Amino acid sequence: VPDEERIVLDPWGTAHVKDYDRLMQEFGIEPLTDELVERLPFQHRLIRRRVIFGHRDLGLILKAIEEDGSYAVMTGIKPSGDYHLGAKLTSEEFIYFQSLSPKAFGFFAIADLEAYADNKIPLEESHRIALSNLTDLLALGLDPRRVYVYKQSVEIPVLRLAFIFSRAVTYNMIEAIYGPKPFGLYFSALVQAGDILNPQLPQHGGPKPTIVPVGADQDPHIRLTRDLASKYREEFGFILPSATYHRLLRDLTGQEKMSKRNPMGILYLNEPLSSARVKVMQAFTGGRATAEEQRRLGGEPEKCVVFVELLLAHFLEDDKRLEEWYWECKTGQILCGECKARAWTIIEHWLRNHQEKRNKMRDLAEKLLEEKTLSQQW
Ligand code: TRP
Ligand code: SF4
Repeated sequence: VPDEERIVLDPWGTAHVKDYDRLMQEFGIEPLTDELVERLPFQHRLIRRRVIFGHRDLGLILKAIEEDGSYAVMTGIKPSGDYHLGAKLTSEEFIYFQSLSPKAFGFFAIADLEAYADNKIPLEESHRIALSNLTDLLALGLDPRRVYVYKQSVEIPVLRLAFIFSRAVTYNMIEAIYGPKPFGLYFSALVQAGDILNPQLPQHGGPKPTIVPVGADQDPHIRLTRDLASKYREEFGFILPSATYHRLLRDLTGQEKMSKRNPMGILYLNEPLSSARVKVMQAFTGGRATAEEQRRLGGEPEKCVVFVELLLAHFLEDDKRLEEWYWECKTGQILCGECKARAWTIIEHWLRNHQEKRNKMRDLAEKLLEEKTLSQQW
């Protein structure tokens, strides 16, 4: 492949995937086939609509579910700010895989070290942000009885794994995966490998299938971790971790990656309804230049943030209504102003409901996090 055509996935930069088939081919991600989807006990919205498009070794997890075996669900978040729609996706997937079997156990890493390395966020501040994030995670439906929550900065076994793994990684290898980066980010990648293999340590019951639901931009971390899992298989008995991948969604203004520099693009889950409404009403659409043109030609829902990101990916559960909505737009029966107002009523309802639940989860979030932190200060 010529250099300028190579797909570069930078988990700390602005990853943008034009062609998911090529991405899968180049990196060996398997497509999420109908056959696999049918084996899942129930199909989440993100799976039915193929927002989750690919996987590695999902079969190991399906087998565990079918044979009533235990497995781990692992993810992490960088506590760099309040929860927005991007974090909602990963969290919903985490909760979904946790709910598929009573033998599933969740591991949730708060990547405060990565937030420091990447965004210079002090550890005390990321603790506060993590609390807010956990409140959202609980409100989204996390089962608190089957999850282990921890912060990277005080999780000795994870840090120890990162160090152990560093023996097998040369500068050339890590540079080939991530490009030239500060060592803090390389170290964060090793810590993340530690996160992902942490569920397989003896104190958590030893080797087991582990599913890591992530955005496509995290694949470099998954590849590195699978490579390390096979290098250290003899020593630790690791099973290569499985992963599912979701598409990278645009922000509300149509930009390819959410960025704090563009606040109108980000919808926060704890955002006041008044400002959320303004953002939705100003979102990027697939509408035409004039009303006349749109009635004549129809809109372009496949290009529209309101349709793809807000309704399809996030807020409209009903498949039949989604399809009707698509055709209403496509045939010019509805114009963007009315359409957004209608979408807003659905989103408003969701946000109001979420924020009510959220308010009730504060204490529980504190408990989940505090238990760990008090005993493990510097
Ligand atoms: N790197 C992830 C992010 O930027 C956070 C993360 C840390 C993570 N550890 C993980 C994700 C383990 C999945 C699995 O959001
Ligand atoms: Fe998007 Fe709705 Fe406009 Fe169609 S009518 S382009 S779905 S905002």
